[in-house]
Amino acid sequence: MSRRTIGFGVIGCGLMGKEFASAAARWLHLEGVDFEPRIVAVCDANPAATEWFRRQVPSVERTYDDYRELLADSGVDAVYCAVPHHLHAQIYVDIIEAGKHLLGEKPFGVDAEANARINAALEANPGVIVRCSSEFPFYPGAHQIAQWVQEGKFGRIIEAEAGFWHSSDLDPNKPINWKRRVATNGEYGCMGDLGMHVLHLPLRFGWKPSSVRALLSKIVPERPDGSGAMVPCETWDNAILACDVRTADQQFPLMLSTKRIAPGHANTWFIRIQGTALSAEFSTKNPKQVSSLPYAPGGQQAWHTVDAPYKSAYATITGGIFEFGFSDSILQMWAAFCDELANGADGMRQPFRCATPEEARGSHRVFTAALESERTGATVPIDWRE
Ligand SMILES: NC(=O)c1ccc[n+]([C@@H]2O[C@H](COP(=O)([O-])OP(=O)(O)OC[C@H]3O[C@@H](n4cnc5c(N)ncnc54)[C@H](O)[C@@H]3O)[C@@H](O)[C@H]2O)c1
Repeated sequence: MSRRTIGFGVIGCGLMGKEFASAAARWLHLEGVDFEPRIVAVCDANPAATEWFRRQVPSVERTYDDYRELLADSGVDAVYCAVPHHLHAQIYVDIIEAGKHLLGEKPFGVDAEANARINAALEANPGVIVRCSSEFPFYPGAHQIAQWVQEGKFGRIIEAEAGFWHSSDLDPNKPINWKRRVATNGEYGCMGDLGMHVLHLPLRFGWKPSSVRALLSKIVPERPDGSGAMVPCETWDNAILACDVRTADQQFPLMLSTKRIAPGHANTWFIRIQGTALSAEFSTKNPKQVSSLPYAPGGQQAWHTVDAPYKSAYATITGGIFEFGFSDSILQMWAAFCDELANGADGMRQPFRCATPEEARGSHRVFTAALESERTGATVPIDWRE
């Protein structure tokens, strides 16, 4: 099978930039794909970050410290951009206007206004394919639950819950970084950082919250700055959002939570759906397990927990008995993005696309309303009209 090679540039060579490099280096893990990313150019404001790529990624031919030079590089067809949130709007707009396809990181703009700037650039340049990074739905257990929703297996939805919980900020001695400052992470705090992950599947299912009541917490008021001083920790640590979902034929509560301080949770993403005909749960805490409770009137109510096979959206060399993990979800997400670039939305080898700019925009509507709810103490309606 001949393969289309897609020339990639990476802007932002930190934690997530390296994760992409790792996924691209492990492309042989995938079976039956006719596309492949090749990272040819990288850019970071910090020379040590690009140096890592020079040493570790043989395909990298050019390194830059100004992203505009990378955008002028004719070998770059598409860009992965993983920089702090306050830089998203300007850099994403410039990428789109340069005619490069983009996988951007969440939250896709530091606030609603920044997100609107990105969407305006996209409207003016409809030829570029732009998607937002969100890998957890690519876990086989999450994929299974998404399929059950699409097949209408849950009956009437009673309630749904999605969350993303971290625990490392429980340690008050953890030094501050850009994710704890409003100037770089934005006023959304933990919602901007973690919320797109939590909203991706609900929005994909068409579950648009019509209102939100938010409870936002700041738990650790200050942190060491790394040079002996204590500085204010400005962003929201935890958020609990009680949403009301109204679809054409259903109305139900959707609980969303994003937590930087959830004791005992390293990186727990989960979704739980209760319905009159089926209930189901998946959590990355037990990445192999999917629990479900099918119900028929008068029948037994018994949870079944099975080890979900390693059955990913894109086939791999890994046997079905082995565990699926974070790096696998990143690889699968990258396969979906490259598949869409190579074959178009209608020609993809499997139908689950990466999160769309429209879904990212939906997440901004929810976070913006949540901030208003926190300020006023009110339940805030969310307007989904254009
Ligand atoms: N999808 C996920 O699971 C996931 C996980 C973590 C972070 N993220 C997202 O990825 C993005 C980056 O987060 P990270 O954890 O990789 O951060 P990071 O701090 O590890 O890396 C950011 C990099 O951007 C570089 N940078 C800053 N300004 C720049 C500029 N003007 N030009 C070029 N490079 C610049 C920094 O030097 C740094 O190397 C954020 O949007 C974050 O929300 C996503």
